[in-house]
Amino acid sequence: MHTVGVPTVSNPLGTVFAPAKINLALHVVGRRADGYHLLDTLVVFASVGDTLTAFPSSDGPALVLEGPFADGLSAGGDNLIARADRAFRARCPSLPAFSLRLSKQLPVSSGIGGGSADAAATLRLLGALATNPGHVDLEALAMTLGADGPMCLRSTPLRARGIGEQLQAWDVAPKLDLILVNPGIAVSTPAVFRRLAQRENPPLPERLPPIADSLALAAFLAAWTRNDLAAPAEAEAPEIGAAESALAAADGCLLARMSGSGATVFGIFTDAEAARRAASAITAARPDWWVKAATTISPDEASPRRQNES
Ligand code: C5P
Repeated sequence: MHTVGVPTVSNPLGTVFAPAKINLALHVVGRRADGYHLLDTLVVFASVGDTLTAFPSSDGPALVLEGPFADGLSAGGDNLIARADRAFRARCPSLPAFSLRLSKQLPVSSGIGGGSADAAATLRLLGALATNPGHVDLEALAMTLGADGPMCLRSTPLRARGIGEQLQAWDVAPKLDLILVNPGIAVSTPAVFRRLAQRENPPLPERLPPIADSLALAAFLAAWTRNDLAAPAEAEAPEIGAAESALAAADGCLLARMSGSGATVFGIFTDAEAARRAASAITAARPDWWVKAATTISPDEASPRRQNES
């Protein structure tokens, strides 16, 4: 795969949304022999994210990066999109070459999916464009590209255990009004895991209670769940604490917490208007931060679309 400097002008073949992944709760419950940590995490996906589009390519696979956070990424063979493309093609060699264009809207290394989300989006898009992808195990492929790969492949509310490969749909997730705040610091996931003081912590409650709305969910999360990576991440990057405090102090914020290994923090709000107002106020106070009001998305909103589909 190579980088193309000029944008592709032909019609797109298909497009897929790579939504931000939000860990509403993330418990570190143990460690595997290979050093990976065992997690118990509750995940939803947001209406902000990257977009990946495929175009025909007459001179082999290509990757074009654009958007506000494209500069933080390499378009070379080590890019997770390029790796996902190679892995898929190894199992589906008849697939024609595409030029893939990523609109990078999410900050990189920020605890909301990032590379895993883009890799999973690549697999979903290629799966939708291939004529006979039935034999390709996308979930197994996604895991080879990152522990968050399988959950990002689904992009639906879920509970994940193991290192992220044991997925259980969370069918009763309420629609949430959110704000995502990134204080402009890229945090290294391995560095955060290394700083963990305690690697064997209690899991989430075995059975999640019936949860009707944002208020009930925020109360449940605050009482029974944590992000065990928050303390080590704040030790790496104290600005995370400032972002969390800014959200927690905003009118209408029901819960503020870090996602993944940081540094992005989310707030659950009472309603969309409160979220919009708080996002404006935080942006005004901290124009150097990335601040986005969003909602959680329904399962079909992350599905790939071929060009001839609505
Ligand atoms: O799988 P991924 O490449 O996203 O993980 C990056 C790093 O984060 C791993 O190399 C590992 O150090 C750490 N990690 C971990 N346990 C997990 C996920 C990631 O220790 N469940």
